[in-house]
Amino acid sequence: MKRILVTGGLGYIGSHTVVELQTAGYKVVIIDNLSNATMDVLDGITAITGKRPEIEILDLREKEAVNAFFKDYDDIDGIIHFAASKAVGESVKNPLLYYENNVGSLVYLLKECRDRGIDNFIFSSSCTVYGQPDTLPITEDAPVKPAISPYGNTKQISEEIIRDICNVSTIRSISLRYFNPIGAHESAEIGELPIGVPQNLVPYITQTAAGIREELSVFGNDYPTPDGSCIRDYIHIVDLAKAHVIALERLISKENKDVFKIFNVGTGKGSSVLEVIRAFEEVTGSKLNYKIVDRRAGDVISVYADTEKANQVLGWRAEKTMEEALASAWAWEKKVRGI
Ligand code: UD1
Repeated sequence: MKRILVTGGLGYIGSHTVVELQTAGYKVVIIDNLSNATMDVLDGITAITGKRPEIEILDLREKEAVNAFFKDYDDIDGIIHFAASKAVGESVKNPLLYYENNVGSLVYLLKECRDRGIDNFIFSSSCTVYGQPDTLPITEDAPVKPAISPYGNTKQISEEIIRDICNVSTIRSISLRYFNPIGAHESAEIGELPIGVPQNLVPYITQTAAGIREELSVFGNDYPTPDGSCIRDYIHIVDLAKAHVIALERLISKENKDVFKIFNVGTGKGSSVLEVIRAFEEVTGSKLNYKIVDRRAGDVISVYADTEKANQVLGWRAEKTMEEALASAWAWEKKVRGI
């Protein structure tokens, strides 16, 4: 049984990936610093899979602790690296936190990989590296645009760091550029639980429906899109989690010919904010309280993936619909709030 380290394994994407890894027969050890997650998530994972993953609570910025971890766990076959800060606005206010947390930690991890011959490394990247693309849908060959936030910049820099070390070591890596992950596990045992006021659309919608927020603000209806609201590629979190297992298997089986490869992980379909609201209303059978407000600074107009490479080369495709994702997000919100 192969042992996989999942950093940030208690986070939103991390926890769903741990479930899929365990389901596929991998032994998982999680590193998490609990900065944006709680130990309850471990119970949720265990309830779904019947297996409690191993866990070490540590901060990847602590180089000595990272080193000690790898001395204890000397049989790691691969790493899926999620641990990172991800609040765009916070990154503008505190860039050094983002560079230290997202880039510094990555360097320590990769040093351990290089020195210990841990060759399989999956990186958690983002479609944010494309900025507002010149053509849609976006292929992986689309140029990386100057980042609009330090958060986005850490994803760009991280990909470059990984590419550079793969070129001169035995490390092989796949970077998955996520579009907009939404939804929760169908069991409602795990899901997205933002701390404080949600910044992302779907948690804001479900919290509004649950009565925690008064109304959703739709950021702009005067964009050059069919209904004037921004377009994104919303992907079910479980589909996204499965992409990690497939990518890992590709590395372990040495199918991956390039030392470093990038895949878009999206559905290929763009949906506007107003379409998401309508779909949510249909799924729940109730009206959502919302109003149109000014545009949000930094939002791009329209982004959705070309998934050809992921479909053909990786052998993965999104299977779940946006409606399923919204229904699962709502089931999770209701469970968390005891509704
Ligand atoms: C953002 C980040 C992205 C990150 C992702 C997940 C940017 C440019 N991108 O994506 O890098 O990976 O979050 O953390 O910041 N919206 C509303 N009202 C709300 C919230 C959102 O109308 O209350 C709209 C936004 O204007 C946008 C869409 O919903 O058009 C999706 O927003 P959001 O969920 O925040 O994701 P992104 O901004 O696409």
